[in-house]
Amino acid sequence: MKALDGVRILDFTHVQSGPTCTQLLAWLGADCIKVERPGTGDITRGQLQDIPKVDSLYFTMLNHNKRSITIDARNPQGKAVLEALVKTCDVMVENFAPGALDRMGFTWEHIQELNPRMILASVKGFGPGPYEDCKVYENVAQCAGGSASTTGFDDGPPMVTGAQIGDTGTGLHLALGIVSALYQRVTTGRGQKVLCAMQDGVLNLCRVKLRDQQRLAHGPLTEYPQYPDGEFGDAVPRAGNSSGGGQPGWILKCKGWETDPNAYIYFIAQAPVWEAICDVIGKPEWKTDPGYAKPPARLPKLKQIFDTIEQWTMTKTKFEAMDILNKYDIPCGPILSMKEIAEEQSLRDTGTVVEVDHPTRGKYLTVGNPIKMSDSISEVKRSPLLGEHTDEILRDVLRFDDGRIAEIKASGALGGAPTRAAAE
Ligand code: COA
Repeated sequence: MKALDGVRILDFTHVQSGPTCTQLLAWLGADCIKVERPGTGDITRGQLQDIPKVDSLYFTMLNHNKRSITIDARNPQGKAVLEALVKTCDVMVENFAPGALDRMGFTWEHIQELNPRMILASVKGFGPGPYEDCKVYENVAQCAGGSASTTGFDDGPPMVTGAQIGDTGTGLHLALGIVSALYQRVTTGRGQKVLCAMQDGVLNLCRVKLRDQQRLAHGPLTEYPQYPDGEFGDAVPRAGNSSGGGQPGWILKCKGWETDPNAYIYFIAQAPVWEAICDVIGKPEWKTDPGYAKPPARLPKLKQIFDTIEQWTMTKTKFEAMDILNKYDIPCGPILSMKEIAEEQSLRDTGTVVEVDHPTRGKYLTVGNPIKMSDSISEVKRSPLLGEHTDEILRDVLRFDDGRIAEIKASGALGGAPTRAAAE
C-alpha cells in the first residue's frame, strides 16, 4: 500500500514549482493526472534539451509517476473535459501566472460548484500585496525572499544558491498544505484553497537570517566573519561560509584543492569536542590556553583558528579528514560534487538516487523520494510522454464512451485541428 492511495490529483502545473509538489504526492501514491497543452505540453519538455526531440531531463526529473492528458482549455469541449476531471479529482494543483486560471473559467466559485470537496492548491510568486500580479521564477523568489542578500561573501554581490529553494522549496510547502487540507476534509467534508507564495517559502527557509536581523539591534553577530574587525550595517550581511547556528564553521581546503574544485570540507568547531579538535590538529596547548579554551574567547579569533585547522585539513583528502574527525565526533562534511553524488552507492541503495528507463531517452539518473516511510511503498516510475494517457483517462477515469471520445477528439480539444464534422 502507498500512503496516498485513493487520492486523485488534477495536475495543472508547469515548469518546476508545481510539478515538484505533484511529483512528491505521486511518489506517495496519489494518482496524478497532468493536464498539458496539446502540441507543446509543459514548456520544460523542450527546455535544456540534451537529446534532440526527446523530453528534457528538466521535464523527466520533475514529472515521475504521473499520467499525461492533453487538453486545450480554451476549446469548449476541452473545458468540458476539465470540468469532468474537477468533479472526479480530490485536489487541483496549479502554478499559472496570477489570474490565468480565472481567465480559463476556473474561478474558485466555479470549482466549488462543480465539486465542493475540491482542494485548490496554487503556487504564486508573491502573496497579496504590491507584487501579487508579478510572474516569478526561482531566482526572483530567492532575491525577494531574503536568500540572495544573505548569501555570498561580504565583499561580493548578492548570490543565488544552486538549491532550488524558490521552486522545489515552495512545492514542498504546498504538498504539506495539500495533505493537511485532505486531512481536514475528513472532518469538514469541504475542500479549501491552499496558497503558497514563493517569497514566503524562501523566507521560511531563511528564517535564521530574520533572527539575525533582530539580533543586530543588540550588538554585532559574533559568529559572522565580519566580527571583530569588519563593520556591521543596519541589515544582516552576507556571512560567507560561516555556520547559520550557534557553532562556528567554515569551508576548509583539503589535499588536492589546487586542482580539484571540490577538495574541501565543512568543519564545525563544536564546543563540546574542542579538546579533540586541538589534539587532532596538533595544538594541544589550546585546550588550556585561556585565549582559546572557552567559546567566547575563540569568537574574535575564528579566522586564525580556521586557518590553523586548514593547515591540518590540507594534509588529508576530504574523505581521510572525514574518517579521522568522525572518530572524535567532530561534525564535518565533505564537499561532494554532483559526479560523486551520482556515483555514491549508498544513495543508490536507499533509492535516493535512482536509474530510470525512458522509452525515447533510455536510462537516466534521477532523485527518488527523499521521504522514507516504514509502511508505505514508494517507487519511481518514468515521466509520461505528452498525452500518453489521454485515451485511458477519458475511458477509465471519466468513463466516456467511444462516441463521446470521438466527438471530443473531432472538436480539436485534445490536439490536432477540428474535423469538418465537428466544426459544422
Ligand atoms: N490550454 C489552453 N491554454 C493553456 C493551457 C491549456 N492546456 N495551459 C496553459 N494555458 C495558457 C494559460 O491559460 C495562460 O494564458 P493567458 O495568460 O493568456 O490567460 C498561458 O497559457 C500561459 O500561462 P502562464 O502561467 O502565464 O505562463 P508563462 O510561461 O507566461 O509564465 C510563469 C510562467 C512560471 C512565470 C508563471 O506561470 C508564474 O508566474 N507562475 C506562478 C509562479 C511560479 O510557479 N513560478 C515558478 C515556476 S517554476
